[in-house]
Parts: sequence; C-alpha cells; structure tokens
Amino acid sequence: MSSEKKQHTVQTTGHAWDGDLQEFNNPLPNWWLWGFYATVVFAVIYWVLYPAFPIGNTYTKGAFNEITYTTADGKTKTSHWTTRALLMQEMQEARELQKPYLEKINKTGYEQIAGNKEQSSFAYSTAKVLFADNCAACHQAGGAGVIGMYPNLADDAWLWGGSYAQIEESIRKGRNGNMPGFKASLSAEQIDNVAEYVLGLSGIEVNKDKAAQGKAVFEGAGTCHVCHTKAGSGQFAMGSANLTDKVWTFANVPAAKTLAEKKTAVKEVVANGFGRHMPAWNGRLSDVEIKMLAFYVHQLSAGK
Ligand code: HEC
Ligand code: HEC
Repeated sequence: MSSEKKQHTVQTTGHAWDGDLQEFNNPLPNWWLWGFYATVVFAVIYWVLYPAFPIGNTYTKGAFNEITYTTADGKTKTSHWTTRALLMQEMQEARELQKPYLEKINKTGYEQIAGNKEQSSFAYSTAKVLFADNCAACHQAGGAGVIGMYPNLADDAWLWGGSYAQIEESIRKGRNGNMPGFKASLSAEQIDNVAEYVLGLSGIEVNKDKAAQGKAVFEGAGTCHVCHTKAGSGQFAMGSANLTDKVWTFANVPAAKTLAEKKTAVKEVVANGFGRHMPAWNGRLSDVEIKMLAFYVHQLSAGK
C-alpha cells in the first residue's frame, strides 16, 4: 500500500500520543535553506557596502568612495555615496559638456546662430526644454496660446514685435498690455458701429453704412486711432493689437459663427477693455537662456 510505504520514509519526532498520534519532523528542503542563507549573506554584504543602519542621529555610510560635485550655482559639495549625489555628479558633467556651446552662443549674434546648423539646433533643443518648463503653462506647447488669455507665439502676428531684439525684450522685461474699456464714454450704438468697422478691417463682410459710422468713432470720439493707428495696424511700442489682420488674440472672433456673434465678441472687448501681464524673466533665467528662448520663439513663427 502506498500510504504504508510513505510512513516509512517520513521522519517523526519519535514520540507517540494516544497510541498512534505522531508528529512529522520534515526537514526544510535544501534549495529553500540555501536560498535563505544566500539572502542573509546578501543582506550583510549590502549593509556593509551601502548606507544602511541608523546609529544615534547618523547612520552607516557604506563602503564606496565619497562623491564630490559642483551644484548649478557653483557650490562644491562632498557626500558619501548616494544615488542623489551620483545624479548631481551626472548633471554637473552635462553642464560642463554644455558650457562651451553656451559660451559660444552667448557671444554670437542671432543671425549667425540661425546660419550655423550646430549652434541653431543646440539653441533650439535647449530652449524647447526651457519653454516647456517656464512658458508652456501659459503659452501652451509649441507657443499656440489661448485666445483671450495668452498670445499665440507661433503665428507671425505680434503685439510687441517679432524681431529677435523685440522678442528678447518681451521675455527679459515682461509686458503689460492694456486696452481701456469704453462703456462709460461711448454709447451702445457707437460701440456697435465701431465693432462693425473693426471687423470690416480684417476682411469680414459687414454693413457698409454702419462701418462708415464706426470709422468716424474709431478716429473721433473713440480715440482708437491714438493707440491702434489710423489704419488700425497697431503699434509695437504699446502692444496695441493689429486690427487689420485675421489674427485675434483676445476677442474670440474665430469661434463665433455669425456676424452678430463676432460683433458681440468685439463689443465685449471695446466696452469692458482688458489688461494682460507677461512676467519678466531677467534674473530668473540667465542671459544665455533668455537668448536661446528668444531664438526659439522667433523660430516658432519663422516663415509663417
Ligand atoms: C503667467 C503667464 C505667462 C508666462 C509664464 C509667460 N508668458 Fe509670455 N505672455 C503672457 C501674456 C499674458 C502676454 C501678453 C501680454 C500683453 O497683453 O501684451 C505674453 C506675451 C509674450 C510675448 C510677446 C508676444 C507678442 O505678440 O508680442 C512673448 C515673446 C512671450 N510672452 C514669451 C514668453 C516666454 C519665452 C515665456 C517663458 C520664459 C513666457 N512668455 C512666459 C503670459 C505669460
Ligand atoms: C490706450 C490705447 C488704446 C486705445 C485708446 C484703444 N485700444 Fe484697443 N487695444 C489696446 C491694446 C494695448 C490692446 C492689446 C492688449 C493686449 O493684447 O494685452 C488692444 C486690443 C484691442 C482689441 C483686441 C484685438 C484682438 O486681437 O483680440 C480690439 C478689438 C480693440 N483693441 C479695439 C479697440 C477699439 C475699437 C478702440 C476704440 C474704441 C480701442 N481699441 C482703443 C490699446 C488701445
């Protein structure tokens, strides 16, 4: 019988209770036992090599060499082995690799950077990361902007100008755009007519008579021309939007389907006005970072 056979191969503690009640004494399988010893040995070696045990208010520092590294702001630090110190050391090495490139870019004019393939691709890819970290929260990925909130940086319409120098100034010093509201100084009809005229400026089909009356408001009681110019093309010096192109940065005309809806969007802006603030980055980003960002933003809109 197989059960009888088995009883002979199984060890017992050698004691019997109630006649035939015995306790097995199975040894642990060898593979399990050796596996267990191996984990103990592993742990002891690990404790010696790596930072591990608390001692008072410090701890064992492990057996690796100390790591010395320089932080981004130039401080030299020494630490026992940690993965964080390793990372800091790697980042230092990356910064040192970048350094000659950054120094070159710092000394080179925008046009020359654009003409040099190595420099332009370095500046572009470095600034792309800076843009994602510092700018995209407002201007969106790729500088697409949000109508009514943050201007699109990837089109060729500019509030403050799209030259390298103008873009650099926008980033360095920040910008404050201010469009006054006219609901106190213009009648509802005047606002209606001037909105008709403004929409006509950008090529939208409007009522000619109303637009003509609106033109009189634009250049007269509304004083719109003082900021937006008589032609309505805007001035970079004060960030007054160009009203003659098809690009809208605040009034959401593109989303409106009918003329009445488009007019409502413009009238809202003219009646209530609005102000927007672009923060200044001088001091928060380095000169060369600002330069690479200006280059990047210029590239975003280039050829469009
Ligand atoms: C807190 C939101 C915010 C952040 C962050 C921000 N901007 Fe702006 N930016 C604005 C606003 C709002 C304006 C429009 C200001 C105005 O009304 O004239 C603007 C305008 C600009 C302009 C001028 C656009 C034009 O048409 O002339 C440039 C260039 C620009 N930003 C670049 C950047 C860059 C590069 C960064 C990152 C370093 C950045 N911005 C970060 C909000 C922001
Ligand atoms: C004191 C200067 C000033 C005057 C006067 C002024 N504007 Fe503006 N306007 C601005 C500025 C600056 C902006 C852009 C602000 C920004 O983008 O932050 C603007 C923006 C606009 C916009 C939004 C354009 C868009 O792309 O969404 C419209 C529409 C507009 N103005 C119409 C008018 C009309 C109509 C009048 C006259 C009734 C007028 N403005 C008078 C300075 C002025």
